Amino acid sequence: MDKEQAKKRIEKLKAEIAHHRYLYHVLDKQEISDAALDSLKNELFKQEMEYPELITQDSPTQRIGGKPLAKFKKVTHSQPMLSLYDAFSKQDMYDWENRMKKILPSQEFSYYAELKMDGLAMSLRYEAGIFVQGATRGDGKVGEDVTQNLKTIDAIPLVLRRPSERELKVIGLDDEIIKKFFYAFDRGVIEVRGEAIMTLNVLKELNEKYAREGKALLANPRNAAAGSIRQLDPKITAERKLDFYAYSLITDLGLTEHEQEHELAKLIGFKILAINKFCKNIEEVIEFHDFEERNKDKVPFECDGVVAMVNDLALWPKLGIVGKGPRYVMAYKFAAEQVTTKLLDVLWQVGRTGTLTPTAVLEPVRVGGVTVSQSTLHNMDEINRLGLKIGDTIILERAGDVIPKVVQVLPKLRIGKEKNIEAPKQCPICNSEVVRVPGEVAFRCTNKECYAVNMRSMSHWVSKGAMDIDGLGPKIIEQLMKIGLVRTVADFYKLTIDDLLPLERFAQKSAENLIAAIDAKREVELSKFIYGLGIRHVGEETAIDLANHFSSLGKIKDAKLEELAQLADVGPIMAKSIYDWFNNPKHLELLNELKNNGLKIKKIEQKAKILAGKTFVLTGALESLTRDEAKAKIRELGGDVSSSVSKNTDYVVAGEEAGSKLDKATALGVRILSEEEFLGLINKI
Ligand code: IVH
Repeated sequence: MDKEQAKKRIEKLKAEIAHHRYLYHVLDKQEISDAALDSLKNELFKQEMEYPELITQDSPTQRIGGKPLAKFKKVTHSQPMLSLYDAFSKQDMYDWENRMKKILPSQEFSYYAELKMDGLAMSLRYEAGIFVQGATRGDGKVGEDVTQNLKTIDAIPLVLRRPSERELKVIGLDDEIIKKFFYAFDRGVIEVRGEAIMTLNVLKELNEKYAREGKALLANPRNAAAGSIRQLDPKITAERKLDFYAYSLITDLGLTEHEQEHELAKLIGFKILAINKFCKNIEEVIEFHDFEERNKDKVPFECDGVVAMVNDLALWPKLGIVGKGPRYVMAYKFAAEQVTTKLLDVLWQVGRTGTLTPTAVLEPVRVGGVTVSQSTLHNMDEINRLGLKIGDTIILERAGDVIPKVVQVLPKLRIGKEKNIEAPKQCPICNSEVVRVPGEVAFRCTNKECYAVNMRSMSHWVSKGAMDIDGLGPKIIEQLMKIGLVRTVADFYKLTIDDLLPLERFAQKSAENLIAAIDAKREVELSKFIYGLGIRHVGEETAIDLANHFSSLGKIKDAKLEELAQLADVGPIMAKSIYDWFNNPKHLELLNELKNNGLKIKKIEQKAKILAGKTFVLTGALESLTRDEAKAKIRELGGDVSSSVSKNTDYVVAGEEAGSKLDKATALGVRILSEEEFLGLINKI
């Protein structure tokens, strides 16, 4: 994108994000998922990184939080409630650690890794051990006083539990810290921060109840928690049965490790997550993240990543705060299940019954842990329902192992150059006419054989005599065709593990195996290649003859019709069929694609034409090879084969029960070769 285009895109993105933020923070409403909104913000951030001069103060990348609601009393936080920076990959995590190592070069870092709960951040103030104030984050500096509502949450202690000195010693506090703690506990202030959440079970129960009562349903646990807390009527909050987990102690008590903050929070009466874990290095954090990502469905609430904190509290002030968040914390997000991307094109696939199915060609994006560049659009009605145009920014979803799908269009991001999607008039495979079946959604190719022919040619290409690729059975080919990943055989060579992972029947191992099987056959013999093309009348034998005679694909492509017809065993019909095949632009495009996608034809070693100028006559039966094979050998080495003996004959090869030709050769004094001598001659090569 050039600067002008980027500027326009940035303006559009800012307006769209501002709209959704207002809905979300001020009206407690949501039109698109958090993940989709994150994805838009991420694009904005990237665009701004590209052109930093386009960053303005009002950009959503430049601020944190939202406006506090007018209906609640405002609370100025004793310390700002900061945001977290996000990491999306292992590399991001290593980069983060390296940035910290630049500031503290000889420092080894250990971490405390926690689940990142998807709820609402709360700051709780206890004076002399009594809960006096609870506030939302608001814009990070000023939040909303929601004390009365928080008091309805059982998991929030109204009075702190007084731990014993022994308990404090067990978690590693020394006498001085213990003294400080008891002072704050008995006479001072203790501030605890944590997350108010709604468990998935509670959400389900409430929604069932609301459905029975005909009330509006809660969209997701985070929204539900937010809506419940920012209620003027605490009774409603109570009914919503929220939960609360502590994740930090703000009051400076002189603790040395972040882990102790959790342990101490537990001792004074807060729930903490038992899953959280001390990690002695960044690799352990990554392992923790990967494990929790695989098992996130086993947690009773929604979580969207792992928060990793430098465990040694003495390092925090040294690392400091950069912009919206501290340098010593990183949120390592789980793969988003929704992202935004662009629709580049729509391709039509012909299915078993001749039905044409549209496939979205997308700007590749990572979603649900895999990269997606295609997705099915089902049918024209679906396209109309979505209101989709080529060039649109869309929301793509891949939840769990479900095939990725386009779930929403963002029409406000259009620039006016988007194109309508038309149903094809001609079949993209066979060029036959396409009709809309009356009374049905479907468009259909009128050529009943279309799908079968296409499938057959794909299967033929991968079969034993041709490319010989293991694991590409008809079911798999059909699935790949259905989703539009494979349209021609050239597409097999573009497949990646990430392409396969979102599909049914594929897991990491099976995807790796198939890609390895394809890779193993990236270099093929010319004869097998020609055979694989499935040219009418060209069987394995003819393919071998063509390969031997021409020795390169280029020469076959350029061969004149007469030249082809002159080849032994290639009659005029076959010659025409070969000639036509190689003069069809669609086929030449296929050959190009195959080459571009990395399929190589092994070079035929040019055998020395040691029999050049020599004429052979074959008579009688040979034991070790057929007469055709013998002829092919002679021709391959530059010799000619004739059917009758004359004084121009150089050799007569005499097999078993040789007939009159042998007598004639003897009479003319032509050199006669036994089978053994003949083999000796051709094997010299
Ligand atoms: S630590 C400097 N730990 O994530 C902020 N935050 O996007 C320190 N969150 O507003 C926050 N689980 O509400 C921390 N285990 C956890 C968390 C957590 C969820 C939320 C928190 C914060 C948001 C940041």
